[in-house]
Amino acid sequence: MKMEQKWDDDEPTLIQALIDIQKGLGFLPPEKLREVATSFGISEAYIWGVATFYNIFRFKPRGKTHIKVCMGTACHLSGGGLVAEAAERELNIKVGETTDDQDFSLERVACVGCCMLAPVVVINDRVYPRMSPLKLEEVLIEFKRDKKED
Ligand code: FES
Repeated sequence: MKMEQKWDDDEPTLIQALIDIQKGLGFLPPEKLREVATSFGISEAYIWGVATFYNIFRFKPRGKTHIKVCMGTACHLSGGGLVAEAAERELNIKVGETTDDQDFSLERVACVGCCMLAPVVVINDRVYPRMSPLKLEEVLIEFKRDKKED
């Protein structure tokens, strides 16, 4: 416990270690969290507590098609929440999850820098402007069709 209190004071170092792992692997696998806990001399429960506190961390790998729904102010006010809900319905997952077949993952993100095009969705780094629930459903149906043909 004493050791963990020490990390309360130096949490940025621990968080940076988690960020570095996620940059490399795309998510935080349990075995890596275990390794970090050991190397930092803290319990697994503590490190899980830290990692799950921040919503920047993912605990499952991203899907082959990664969908980011912008929830910055402009996109939120333009219906970004409804677009995110449409994606959840179409993919049958919640924001932050990946489909069982690993084909799709869904994430909410802060402003992606093209507010004039709100609401915006980014799919595998391509920006889809002025999205609506219906437009996103059509795009996702197209992606699913392409995957079946692969
Ligand atoms: S708020 Fe969505 S692009 Fe800026």
